[in-house]
Amino acid sequence: MVQFLAVVTSYLIGSVPVGYLLGRARGVDIRQRGSGNIGATNAWRVLGPAAGTAALLGDAAKGMLAVFLGRHTGGHGLEVLTALAALAGHSWPVFLGFKGGKIIATGLGVFLALAPVPALLALLIWLAVVAVSRYVSLGSIIAAASLPVWMLALRRPLLDTLFAVLAAAIAIYKHRPNIRRLLDGTESRLGGR
Ligand code: G3P
Repeated sequence: MVQFLAVVTSYLIGSVPVGYLLGRARGVDIRQRGSGNIGATNAWRVLGPAAGTAALLGDAAKGMLAVFLGRHTGGHGLEVLTALAALAGHSWPVFLGFKGGKIIATGLGVFLALAPVPALLALLIWLAVVAVSRYVSLGSIIAAASLPVWMLALRRPLLDTLFAVLAAAIAIYKHRPNIRRLLDGTESRLGGR
């Protein structure tokens, strides 16, 4: 029972739309502006660096919290389940009609808590791709895709690797509009067009 509650609580934690709430505090619905996403990138784009950073930290904290909740109420299997529940919550939040974000910041928090070295390597990939291309979405897609590779290379447990594959698949699926814009050359670049 306590395990079930941990999973449900993690889903609810993941559902808290930090970027959206920061916008609402200023009377702005970030779903109607920029890319329309509720995540840290769009919070940065629409509300500025302070709110963008706060959304990044808040969304990452949700993921970490869910992993710690699973860790302290069960074993490794449960922490992977609570992590998945937090990603599902961020992606399909009950509080916003199940229309949520792209799980990059929440995923960073989840994997920093679950598998820090692969997560840091994926973060380095993200930084490198964004620095070179100035496309945040491209960095997110490539970093997400790299995570299962790091898991395999560093011989993480099979469960972690499978979870990384699932998380990467969700992240890439949620980036469909970005992929379309990248392909037709209309994706916005960091700090400019
Ligand atoms: O973390 C989300 C990022 O990869 C893309 O965000 O707002 O440009 O769709 P956005």
